[in-house]
Amino acid sequence: MALATAILRAGPGAVREAAAALAAGRLVAFPTETVYGLAADAGDDAAVAKLYAAKARPSFNPLIAHVASGTAIDGHGTGPPGAAAAAIAAAGRLARLNADALQLAAAFWPGPLTLVVPKLPACPVGSLATAGLDTIAVRAPNHPVARAILAAFAGPVVAPSANRSGGVSPTSAQHVIADLAGRIDMIIDGGTSPMGIESTVVACRDGHVALLRPGGIPRADVERVLGHPVAIAATAGDSHGSPRPQAPGMLASHYAPRARVRLNAVTVAAGEGLLAFGPVGPELAAAACRVLNLSVRGDTVEAAANLFGHLRLLDAAGVTSIAVMPVPEEGLGEAINDRLRHAAAPR
Ligand code: TXA
Ligand code: MG
Repeated sequence: MALATAILRAGPGAVREAAAALAAGRLVAFPTETVYGLAADAGDDAAVAKLYAAKARPSFNPLIAHVASGTAIDGHGTGPPGAAAAAIAAAGRLARLNADALQLAAAFWPGPLTLVVPKLPACPVGSLATAGLDTIAVRAPNHPVARAILAAFAGPVVAPSANRSGGVSPTSAQHVIADLAGRIDMIIDGGTSPMGIESTVVACRDGHVALLRPGGIPRADVERVLGHPVAIAATAGDSHGSPRPQAPGMLASHYAPRARVRLNAVTVAAGEGLLAFGPVGPELAAAACRVLNLSVRGDTVEAAANLFGHLRLLDAAGVTSIAVMPVPEEGLGEAINDRLRHAAAPR
């Protein structure tokens, strides 16, 4: 049965309503700096079960627990002093953070970094949310609306991206409405997610650090803080489709628009849409039925912010095949290329 989905513009009243709805076991989508999340009380198994159903997400794919980073509502940039410490304290009630995890959290929280760490026996987050694993993914988002809701709720919330499982992630309330209206209780509209690409997921256990998902914190920044290189963990998207990928959500086809996606395009076939990066030659522009540029000036930060919205716009324009120009692997390019490879994977 369809739910009436309340759509509220972000503000103090909406923050209070969102926190109350979460406490009542309801599903609330809200903006984070990366993408919009669909939140449920992490300690309420019935709410978590509804969340999996609303997204049509396979229950073997665990969720990220989001924690507060203090009570300030002005969380811009790296957050007010003390925000990282507050987030670390909140995460410490769920999981054991070793020295590597603490170092990364101190450097990047609140922000687009998710740590996969051993779950405490007394962790209030149930095994449905963590898909039965003995680890839990934890992140402290750095978006003023997300920070305010988490502070008001005063407990962990699980929040996957607020889209149908396997589809293009949402970077605006309109994207969430298009995917989930009638399936969730509330959407807090806080404008466009500034970063546009999900958090970097890093596993820290037994003195070993692995990058499970490239994201908003470039790998080089993680390596700079740790002082050594970090390997990318193999995922199911890579060649052999291992049945137990390290980040269980990283299935081959993911982030996929309706249109077919063709990578590293140097030519455009008749009728194809072009997802450009950097300057576009006249032949390419002329051949494409539609051209959207991730970043005319070739900036991977700008490209990340545009990626999911542009894929959705090309779908909305009725394009059936998207030719994607090459994006360099540097900076956020690693995360962009990861999402594009999944979008292009066989369905
Ligand atoms: O930026 C983000 O991280 C956004 C916003 C809303 O915070 N959230 C997000 O959640 O991207 P989701 O569910 O779409 O992606 C979570 C990823 C999945 O690949 C999942 O498999 C992985 O994190 N993950 C979660 N718990 C894990 C665990 N215990 N071990 C390994 N991977 C885990
Ligand atoms: Mg997702």
